[in-house]
Amino acid sequence: MALARALGPGTLVATRSGQWREGAPPSGVHMHALDLTASTLDLGPLRDCDALHIAVAPGDRSADRRALYVEGTRRLLEQSADFGWSRVVYIGSTSALPAVDGWVGEDEARRPDTERGAVQRDAEDVVLAHGRRHGVPATVLRLGGLYGPGRALGRLYRKRREGPLQGDGNMPTNLIHVDDAVQACVAALRAPAHVGGLIHVVDDDHTTRRAMYDAIARADGQPALRWEREIAPEAAPVGKRVSNLTMKTVLGVRLKHPTHRWRT
Ligand SMILES: NC(=O)c1ccc[n+]([C@@H]2O[C@H](COP(=O)([O-])OP(=O)(O)OC[C@H]3O[C@@H](n4cnc5c(N)ncnc54)[C@H](OP(=O)(O)O)[C@@H]3O)[C@@H](O)[C@H]2O)c1
Repeated sequence: MALARALGPGTLVATRSGQWREGAPPSGVHMHALDLTASTLDLGPLRDCDALHIAVAPGDRSADRRALYVEGTRRLLEQSADFGWSRVVYIGSTSALPAVDGWVGEDEARRPDTERGAVQRDAEDVVLAHGRRHGVPATVLRLGGLYGPGRALGRLYRKRREGPLQGDGNMPTNLIHVDDAVQACVAALRAPAHVGGLIHVVDDDHTTRRAMYDAIARADGQPALRWEREIAPEAAPVGKRVSNLTMKTVLGVRLKHPTHRWRT
């Protein structure tokens, strides 16, 4: 929805329900019902579009993620292969990266060891291979955790306030404000044809999850949070720090929200 608002008139939004979630879509934005897991894909007016931007998420925890992200994307691309897309952009996730300790760039070859991450990685491969096979510029934006209006950073601890939070929280955060995610999507759609491949979309702030939740709780006047494991005050964070250099240099994104530390 945020991307459709940014692109404005002439945008066709295809979702499972075909419904704009809050009232009517913006003027000039049209809706189409398309279930990527249905036995037959009704691509209808997509044929008349110029570029394709894919951003799906199952919403329901029990949904078959592979059927949507990997097979749904594959079928959409295969069945629209003769539509003459000028470009394909796919929103993936930093969960496609392995659980390493330290900086990770787009050249990281190691695969994730979770099924959730493997699904994301396989979906990326589908998109990039399709682009190569059909000579269509294809970009995969690996988004960090989304926050912004309607997605408060403190939502996780608010839900679990009754017990200690999992682990020790001493890992870097890799997040992105919705406004900046949209900026990256628009830049990827409008990029020259030679731009493509994997691009990480996260902000500059890798403050630890523990420090972030502490700050939010303090700002909210909430009691200090408890974690399953305590850490020594000088303990260095352990976990991946996703680099956003390519997003800045290749897509030219200038972050509106480089830090998320104090946002709730
Ligand atoms: N949320 C995060 O922290 C996060 C982090 C990294 C990457 N991402 C990525 O960012 C994108 C947006 O995520 P979000 O959290 O904003 O998702 P969201 O609000 O839940 O929206 C998901 C969209 O996918 C559609 N959809 C679900 N199942 C579908 C199906 N079978 N066929 C066609 N469309 C289907 C939904 O349509 P209906 O509204 O009609 O159901 C909805 O428009 C996704 O690509 C997600 O993977 C999100």
